[in-house]
Amino acid sequence: MTVSLQAKSAIVTGAAVGIGPAFAKALAQHGVNVAVCDIREEIMALPAELQAFGVQAKAWVADVSQPDDVRRVVGGAVAEFGGLDILINNAGKCWASKPDDDLDKTLADYEGMIGTNLKGEYLMGRAVIAQLLEQGRGGEIVNVATDHMVTCGAPHELCPGLDTCPWKDAPRPTGTDAMDIYDASKWGLNGFLYGWAKALKPHNIRVNAMCMGATDSWMIRDFFGFPQTREEETAAQKAEVDTWMAKEDTARVVIELLEEGPNGRNAQNINLCVGRPVKLEAPLPHVYITQESLDGDH
Ligand SMILES: NC(=O)c1ccc[n+]([C@@H]2O[C@H](COP(=O)([O-])OP(=O)(O)OC[C@H]3O[C@@H](n4cnc5c(N)ncnc54)[C@H](O)[C@@H]3O)[C@@H](O)[C@H]2O)c1
Repeated sequence: MTVSLQAKSAIVTGAAVGIGPAFAKALAQHGVNVAVCDIREEIMALPAELQAFGVQAKAWVADVSQPDDVRRVVGGAVAEFGGLDILINNAGKCWASKPDDDLDKTLADYEGMIGTNLKGEYLMGRAVIAQLLEQGRGGEIVNVATDHMVTCGAPHELCPGLDTCPWKDAPRPTGTDAMDIYDASKWGLNGFLYGWAKALKPHNIRVNAMCMGATDSWMIRDFFGFPQTREEETAAQKAEVDTWMAKEDTARVVIELLEEGPNGRNAQNINLCVGRPVKLEAPLPHVYITQESLDGDH
């Protein structure tokens, strides 16, 4: 049985370009009031599009790595909507980093990617959790991770071998030679996933992570040096982009996840790979946290 999202209230971070606006629009389409933030000024145009779905919407230019900005967005969303139910921790940064980069680049990469992908999700999570606990009506946190490192949480030996999984017959290749700090920032989210899911379960607050593969966005086009519009693609680029997932489909899966409600899956890294149907798979067995630990006192 699914629950209705109608009249709930959400925050989507990093919603100016890429997948974030698709998350925000999908929520608004389902009757959710949506607060959005981004470091890009373009974010201020999004509420008008969201309000067209008949919901309340509000935007802030804000950096999720900065505590004062986080307080401004969370406090502002609560003041605007009278409460909060959903956090989509989506804001992210990604560019190439290599083990032999010089120290100046290394530090900039660390501050940029860890600052947003790990610290930003941490701060937003903390601020929203305090509000959810005060309200006492449950809630949903979705951290956006990546499929890079078997983040589905199922090592090959334990994987149920879904027919739709491109790696069902062989271990999933892991790691890349140019994404060490990005991957570290996303692996780090597992600490929040398991810690928050366990601690917040008694309060009916679910915590899950979306671990999707290549999804057409500003970020992935920038990473590969592709143009930002389809019209400008070469034939080879077009062939590559055609294999990526559409952000609207990724957003649809997040809506399906939220509609599971408080009795749905919890503490899951949800894998969404290119080459598979873009749909919410059945929950996988827990690997890094046991069901007993999730349900128990310690
Ligand atoms: N596109 C993919 O293939 C893909 C795959 C796996 C995971 N992801 C993850 O999905 C999320 C969205 O990625 P995307 O592809 O849409 O990226 P994108 O770059 O297209 O969009 C990210 C948005 O976040 C904003 N942002 C960046 N740093 C911020 C900060 N500190 N505070 C507030 N806003 C900030 C950007 O301005 C931008 O609007 C990210 O967490 C990313 O790591 C993307």
